[in-house]
Amino acid sequence: MEYSELLHNRRSIRSFTDMPVTNEILLELIKESTLAPNSSHSQIWKFSVVNSREMIRRVSDESKKNICRRIDDNPADYAKMYEAALRNPDYNVFYNAPALVIISGPADYRNLLVDCALCAGYLMYAAVARGLGTCWINLGADVRDTELRAALGLTDELRIVAPIIIGYPASIPPARHREEPVILKVIG
Ligand SMILES: Cc1cc2nc3c(=O)[nH]c(=O)nc-3n(C[C@H](O)[C@H](O)[C@H](O)COP(=O)(O)O)c2cc1C
Repeated sequence: MEYSELLHNRRSIRSFTDMPVTNEILLELIKESTLAPNSSHSQIWKFSVVNSREMIRRVSDESKKNICRRIDDNPADYAKMYEAALRNPDYNVFYNAPALVIISGPADYRNLLVDCALCAGYLMYAAVARGLGTCWINLGADVRDTELRAALGLTDELRIVAPIIIGYPASIPPARHREEPVILKVIG
């Protein structure tokens, strides 16, 4: 695939075919994602691979529950705008995707968000290159339950940055409109 095609083909995919994604492919994507630049070459990213719709549903329910509690405690929480969906028991924040890769890292690491976000970007393009679709799902990042965290390999010091769903797209939506970039100055 041409580089430009790769860029334009990456859309957030929220509807998937029934075709499973093998663990082998998921591990390949993860391997390629670690080619991302990262601060001090610290490679602090960690990965939880969830290749089970039942487990993905559990993570969705847990995150929805915690985000709803957050909204109750603080109605100014950004997730308030998604409240109706989050309170719907049938709503799966992961859109019934067949697979989920959760990128996490040490909560106190100074460049945690930047490094994991770059890694997530690489993961998404590695997926597109194989005809797969992805979507970053922030609404699935609030996992606190001790047992569930342990099942995902998430020790206490790890913070989830990027839950990325992966599957074969049922359809690829057209590109969302992008504003013209704001160029503050071109000097020289
Ligand atoms: C940090 C981040 C969090 C996101 N969280 C969600 C989410 O919780 N649910 C969702 O459906 N899409 C989520 N998205 C996808 C964005 O809505 C999407 O990237 C944006 O609308 C642009 O569309 P495109 O990815 O197709 O270009 C998230 C994207 C990013 C980068």
